[in-house]
Amino acid sequence: MRLADSAAGVVAIRHSGRNCVTAAVDHFEFHAPVFIGNLVTFHASVNHVGRTSMEVGVRVEAEEPRTGKRTHTNSSYFLMVALDDQGKPVEVPRLLLETAEDLRRNEEARQRAIARRQRKKK
Ligand SMILES: CC(C)(COP(=O)(O)OP(=O)(O)OC[C@H]1O[C@@H](n2cnc3c(N)ncnc32)[C@H](O)[C@@H]1OP(=O)(O)O)[C@@H](O)C(=O)NCCC(=O)NCCS
Repeated sequence: MRLADSAAGVVAIRHSGRNCVTAAVDHFEFHAPVFIGNLVTFHASVNHVGRTSMEVGVRVEAEEPRTGKRTHTNSSYFLMVALDDQGKPVEVPRLLLETAEDLRRNEEARQRAIARRQRKKK
């Protein structure tokens, strides 16, 4: 979980060019175990941006190095907030959605943002 958070942080910092903090983790679910000795790979992308926040999706894969077999073990969504030099939330650049995959991720993240707002209201 810590490594996934770090991967999300790197992606958020690259996108915003700012220091970023984790405001929340929306979803964290293990589909399969990560065993000692596995090689773990993290794929992280900014799926959606608000004004100062970004939803970063992190996909985790574990590889058994003797066989090369890779298993998708986990996906998670981190809400990262960009901070200015005074530590206050600051606007982040808009997302360039270039591929069908970008559009799909953005739409799914938008739906999660709506669901989050509704949960908060309740
Ligand atoms: C995250 C933090 C900077 C937000 O500060 P704030 O004064 O509440 O700022 P705002 O209300 O303007 O919120 C800023 C953005 O964060 C989002 N946000 C804040 N709390 C959130 C939460 N729990 N879940 C999702 N988004 C959240 C807001 O929706 C807003 O997004 P937007 O600008 O895209 O609309 C502040 O709560 C903080 O510093 N938290 C501690 C973070 C930290 O230390 N993380 C490391 C833990 S080890």
